[in-house]
Amino acid sequence: MKGLILSGGKGTRLRPLTFTRAKQLIPIANKSNLLYVVDDLVAAGVSDLGIVISPDTGDEIRQHLLEARPEGVQFTFIEQREPLGLAHAVQTAQGFLGDESFVMYLGDNLLSGGIGHLVQEYEDSHPDAIVLLTRVENPQQFGVAVLDPDGRVLRLVEKPKVPPSDLALVGVYLFSPRIHEVIRTLKPSWRGEYEITEAIQGLVDREMPVVAHLVRGWWKDTGKPEDLLEANRLVLAQVTRRIEGEVTECDLLGEVVVEPGARVTRSELRGPIHIASGAVVEDSYVGPYTSIGQGSRVIGSEVEFSILLPQCEVVQVPYRLDASVIGQGAVVTRETRRRRQHTVGLVVGDFSRICL
Ligand code: G1P
Repeated sequence: MKGLILSGGKGTRLRPLTFTRAKQLIPIANKSNLLYVVDDLVAAGVSDLGIVISPDTGDEIRQHLLEARPEGVQFTFIEQREPLGLAHAVQTAQGFLGDESFVMYLGDNLLSGGIGHLVQEYEDSHPDAIVLLTRVENPQQFGVAVLDPDGRVLRLVEKPKVPPSDLALVGVYLFSPRIHEVIRTLKPSWRGEYEITEAIQGLVDREMPVVAHLVRGWWKDTGKPEDLLEANRLVLAQVTRRIEGEVTECDLLGEVVVEPGARVTRSELRGPIHIASGAVVEDSYVGPYTSIGQGSRVIGSEVEFSILLPQCEVVQVPYRLDASVIGQGAVVTRETRRRRQHTVGLVVGDFSRICL
């Protein structure tokens, strides 16, 4: 079985962060979303991976994956020149996929339960598709499935204005090569895309076996800043204490991870938090669900429930940063000496400079 990771898209809902990087590379607990996807596939025994990239961010994705390449994994990069939808991406990758079955995994999706059980089920029963579903409050923003009382898939609709159910399609699909036959017959949807949801509907219409499962654990599509923070929270909720960096004169509570080469002094650390290598924290408070990126500096400041990308600086900030995402190389500092009375929530693009 092959793996197909979709890693194109413009990430418009994550601007300004995506002006300077691919959305799949934004770190969640200091590891890119894309690498969680690769790890899930590899853990399920799928190591021949096709990566669909766009002309805009393809080079960055390629470089990131080749640098991090886990042992035994093979990457084939496939350029999708125009963003014409998920089914179009499959069609573009047909040369790589050949007539093998494959797992398609969207590069901005994150699952807590892995996909090993799905790959196993596919190998055991060989349906034409396995889809994953989860209940959501905003089904209009997803592909939506309608099941019969026995859990069989009756109907699938992409981004319905009036949703027929609250069961959203998660961005992980297992397909037999018969999906290509259906994709060849698709027409563009109202949003001008070749929809994978319509291709799966085509399998249902042709009475080919399509199996649906509810996700185990949690699932996140990290398409918006609040989703990133929530994904960061969910991943950090699973860490256990590990102190390998230098920690002096600090109060520690709960699950705190300080990577080798990080330096933390005279600070209060309240887990779960993750401090990457080369980061420096001094005279500060780092509260639950925060990750501090490689080489970042937090000096005389308070940060909670936030993501700091690599090499950013939070220095003597008079507010507590809360629910904030600070871009790579950005500087957040104070204008004049003030008492810290309020919290502030920021999404700061890479290399910005903000004085509060
Ligand atoms: C895509 C799919 C949609 C699915 C979603 C999951 O949406 O088209 O069916 O529910 O991924 O993340 P898009 O990311 O194109 O909005």
